[in-house]
Amino acid sequence: MPENTYQQQVLEFSTPQWKPEAILRQRCPQPILNTEHGVLFQGDCLEILKHIESESVDTVFADPPFNLGKHYGKKVNDSLGENEYLNWMHTWIAECERVLRPGGSLFIYNLPKWNIMLGPYLLERGLTFRHWIAVNIKMSMPINGRLYPSHYSLIYYSKGSKPKTFRKIRTPIETCRHCGGDIKDYGGHRSAMNPKGVNLTDVWNDIPPVRHWKFKSKKRQANQLSTKLLSRVIEISTRPGDIVLDPFGGSGTTFAVCEARHRYWIGIELENCDVIIERLTRGEISQHLNTDFIDDAN
Ligand SMILES: C[S@@+](CC[C@H](N)C(=O)[O-])C[C@H]1O[C@@H](n2cnc3c(N)ncnc32)[C@H](O)[C@@H]1O
Repeated sequence: MPENTYQQQVLEFSTPQWKPEAILRQRCPQPILNTEHGVLFQGDCLEILKHIESESVDTVFADPPFNLGKHYGKKVNDSLGENEYLNWMHTWIAECERVLRPGGSLFIYNLPKWNIMLGPYLLERGLTFRHWIAVNIKMSMPINGRLYPSHYSLIYYSKGSKPKTFRKIRTPIETCRHCGGDIKDYGGHRSAMNPKGVNLTDVWNDIPPVRHWKFKSKKRQANQLSTKLLSRVIEISTRPGDIVLDPFGGSGTTFAVCEARHRYWIGIELENCDVIIERLTRGEISQHLNTDFIDDAN
């Protein structure tokens, strides 16, 4: 097996079978895909979210369009005025908050420019700030007269004052890829360090960009997140058998990770869903290696 990939695991659920009908309201539109572990709806998330029961989902992960004028398809307008974009964000966030269980987690991936403006609104809705995670990925080109933007923002809130699930993650002690030696000296305390790794910080330097063809669909070349980011989010905030909602499905990264990590999922995508369906049914797209250690004892 190539070093930086792992094969999709065989799905074995120890939890009772999930029945999506239990959390979908009557007159809910038909899903376009129904797997053993998830349902995918093709439609506008503002419309579909209304059909999900309140307090039924454990984690919401949302990677919406960033209002940068990208072309996702004919139905998405990614060039809104600033107020219009923020109002649109508020509308779907309100629905996501409604469907979250008490203590559930909300993650929103976006440009720092937008995520910083969401803070007051999220607090108003009774969500509690947990973290601003800087996902270190170089974006396009340096911008004249500005610092070189090199992180995306992943904001993490819980519904109510405390998350019901927060699992501690350790990442491997960093070593030099050439000589294999430690990169830092840890102030002489290396021998006292936990061999399972160091505590995950709120700066993620280890999320690979999705460049190689084995990690992405030939039909969708942009805006696909690494499975490593999603697997971390899902492992931090859920346990096997929990339910994850992603209202902006894109190429289905969240759903592929949920399948591999034994979580149930609800997905929504407004544009063409062929890429997601192929990804989930053919299993041809590899997932990035994730060497995180889940330190569940804490
Ligand atoms: C940034 S991409 C998400 C990429 C995804 N995280 C992945 O890794 O593949 C945003 C997606 O949201 C979809 N979208 C935009 N507006 C939507 C809406 N109102 N309802 C549902 N999906 C929408 C777009 O078509 C696009 O595929």
